Amino acid sequence: MVTVNISNIFDFVDKQRVLSFQKIISKNHQALLEKIGAGNNFLGWLTLPSDIDDALLRDIDSTAVRIRELADVFVVVGIGGSYLGARAIIEALKHNFNQLLQTKGAKNPIILYAGQNLSEDYLADLFDVLDRYDYAINVISKSGTTTEPAVAFRILKNHIEKKYGNGARERIIVTTDSSKGALRKMANDLGYKSYIVPDDIGGRYSVLTSVGLLPIAVGGFDIKALVNGAKKMQQQLAETTDIERNPAALYAASRNALYMQGKFIEIMVNYQPNLSFFAEWWKQLYGESEGKEGKGIFPASVINTTDLHSMGQYIQDGERKIFETVLSVGKSKRKLLIPAEKEDLDQLNYIAGKNIHYVNQMAERGTTLAHLDGGVPCIEISIDKVDEYHLGGLIYFFEFACALSGYTLGVNPFDQPGVEAYKRNMFALLGKPGFEKESMEIQKRLKK
Ligand code: PA5
Repeated sequence: MVTVNISNIFDFVDKQRVLSFQKIISKNHQALLEKIGAGNNFLGWLTLPSDIDDALLRDIDSTAVRIRELADVFVVVGIGGSYLGARAIIEALKHNFNQLLQTKGAKNPIILYAGQNLSEDYLADLFDVLDRYDYAINVISKSGTTTEPAVAFRILKNHIEKKYGNGARERIIVTTDSSKGALRKMANDLGYKSYIVPDDIGGRYSVLTSVGLLPIAVGGFDIKALVNGAKKMQQQLAETTDIERNPAALYAASRNALYMQGKFIEIMVNYQPNLSFFAEWWKQLYGESEGKEGKGIFPASVINTTDLHSMGQYIQDGERKIFETVLSVGKSKRKLLIPAEKEDLDQLNYIAGKNIHYVNQMAERGTTLAHLDGGVPCIEISIDKVDEYHLGGLIYFFEFACALSGYTLGVNPFDQPGVEAYKRNMFALLGKPGFEKESMEIQKRLKK
């Protein structure tokens, strides 16, 4: 379902070097499955696809049906791992221009996002839409205390209550911890429908829990197929630790081998604009899991061929610290042929009769070879097509490979201590109770 081809890295690291990671990869694979490695209390995602309860999927689907009846717009409120996974899948599967095809009351809500930034203009613009359309909200926060979604939710709650009065309650769904946090208390006290983020699953590994599944189901997509794809991948990756037979092991070993050769920037390249948020999800997964203790590959992304006309020059010819991971898609969802023209004024008759995806694939192949010639190794990760089943497999593949890769790098891929630093400063500047000392210190720094 997911294949990994590393033949385009051998000019930079030979195959034996990649295979030399076998011992450590096997050890880390075992540590993961036996739950004996660092962060082992956050491994619930490992067996999530096979453990997931059919009753939960049915419940999510029935909530989604209800929301689709009620709302023209569904606002997903969350940040980081409580937002990116759902958006990655929804953007990958939706019609590229669904906003313009939508008719009021179509029972196919447009999904919009809030709480993933603190921009006043963004939120104010969102309210212009929410004044006009019927809407519902899913606020998602595992801790239930993250500032960005909390601020957005407070304002949204105020708006929805004014708009619908007592009817607001059925339009708010909460996804949070089972017992802790302000959001859990609010859900219980105010009687909102709620879903639980399991204790042993961290934000960036949570897309296959209610965190991702409810918004994806409201988007009209098949969550059962998504989970089935992940389940298939779960079985495949548990079967063997052999780098040559386990694609996640191969990816983890290859990127660590490249990193040790000084290639410390990994660019996820894809040729489908609707996968741009998949790359954002991947960046968070790898960046937050590996970037610690002064170590880690810096994850970046480009969407080609668009970015060949902006970042292409740098990738071809700039600092040689990068490698690429191309996310290659075998088949397009739609077919569009290039027509022949009698006069051939634009001189494109040489590709007449070909479909656009073929041209895109030739761009992909040509670019990979050009970058190789320019000193950029390339890992290729392929899926047959972009649908729920393949995306489910790809999610699990990247999660598993990330855990293996993080252990191989020697870090705990399941914590994110660095994320706290900005929060301390922000709370000190905002005068949050409990941050009085930090507040005084930061004011002194600002006066210097
Ligand atoms: O991956 C993570 O753990 C983080 O990115 C969190 O998902 C993010 O900080 C949001 O946290 P919360 O769900 O507690 O609001």
